[in-house]
Amino acid sequence: MSDLLRAPAELKYAEELAWLESIDDNPKPFSWRLSPKMVRLFVLGSERSDGLDREVAQKWFGDRSIVERAIVTLASDRGLLLIGDPGTGKSWLAELLAAAVCRDSTLVVQGTAGTTEDHIKYSWNVSMVIAKGQSRESMIPSPIMTAMESGAIGRFEELTRATSDVQDALISILSEKYVSVPELDGDGIVFAKPGFSVIATANSRDRGVNDLSSALKRRFNFVRIPVVTNKKSEAEIVRFRTEELLRRHSIELEVPPTLLDVLLQSFADLRASAAAAGSDDEKLESALSTAEQIGVLEDAVLHGNFFGERTLTARTLASSLVGSLARREPEDLAILNKYLHGVVEPRGKEQGGEWPEFLEGGRDAIATLS
Ligand SMILES: Nc1ncnc2c1ncn2[C@@H]1O[C@H](COP(=O)(O)OP(=O)(O)OP(=O)(O)O)[C@@H](O)[C@H]1O
Ligand SMILES: [Mg+2]
Repeated sequence: MSDLLRAPAELKYAEELAWLESIDDNPKPFSWRLSPKMVRLFVLGSERSDGLDREVAQKWFGDRSIVERAIVTLASDRGLLLIGDPGTGKSWLAELLAAAVCRDSTLVVQGTAGTTEDHIKYSWNVSMVIAKGQSRESMIPSPIMTAMESGAIGRFEELTRATSDVQDALISILSEKYVSVPELDGDGIVFAKPGFSVIATANSRDRGVNDLSSALKRRFNFVRIPVVTNKKSEAEIVRFRTEELLRRHSIELEVPPTLLDVLLQSFADLRASAAAAGSDDEKLESALSTAEQIGVLEDAVLHGNFFGERTLTARTLASSLVGSLARREPEDLAILNKYLHGVVEPRGKEQGGEWPEFLEGGRDAIATLS
């Protein structure tokens, strides 16, 4: 497992999942590997009141009611659609749920303009068809069909990017719970086993690209994932991811808590100014999500590790922030410049701390880019 660039959640948490399964005596729907309560515990982590022998870390940060509604949906007849801004952890939550429920989060279809019905139903192994004709052996089931046959969870990422024919094909799968394969006579129908469900994700900023038909909407429960604006939870997410990153790269580098505060504060400031902005030109192109925050810190940590003094500095953090967020020239650079001079500079004068160095690093980064 350590030689995978990124292990799926069921491998990464294999040991913990096995342990949870061994102590789980609550009733389980269908062939679920864990009961709904244990799934929730796996995702949100344990509390002292759970009275467990060991601690279970929180993996997804967000409202408990969101997770509960998602779990309930998976046991229902409808699919689960996680919808929200980019980088709000939709895919991560989908992966965790699939890992907890059926120990396989890899039955994934990626929705793009090029996704076809074959990608959610089946296709054929052409050379086998030529040699032996069309049969179950020469059929290549899609990840969704594999999930149907094994009573597992199929995932559909970025559902709204798929064209309407693909969405229509999904309607029949979600309502009929079978796929007919007219090319096969005899056993031409593949039925879903109990436990089969679909978790789809959709980016609310992409909405309208291929807006979901009302028929498809009716077959999904929508669970809206809000942008984390609570600084405490956000700090936890960022810390959790950073620790993981450091571990993955075996980096021994100190991330001072004061710098984590600077990062969180700068994102909060930039979000506030984006919310107050009149036009798109006065707004950073970035959605300023938690995921982007993690990206900024990740770049800074790697830079500090490879080129720095094995410690993260405010200077490196600022230059990583500018580098990640300045996507459009000149709009984004102007916004960041205005932020540095209008907010960071006075704050540095007033509070000192890491801010003056952050200002300097940001200024230099802007100067290099413009
Ligand atoms: N609420 C959260 N809890 C834990 N991790 C989070 C949370 N929000 C974001 N993250 C982290 O941010 C990273 C990106 O999240 P993810 O890819 O799931 O976002 P997404 O909502 O699917 O975005 P997109 O719409 O761009 O696909 C994840 O690796 C995850 O660790
Ligand atoms: Mg995603």
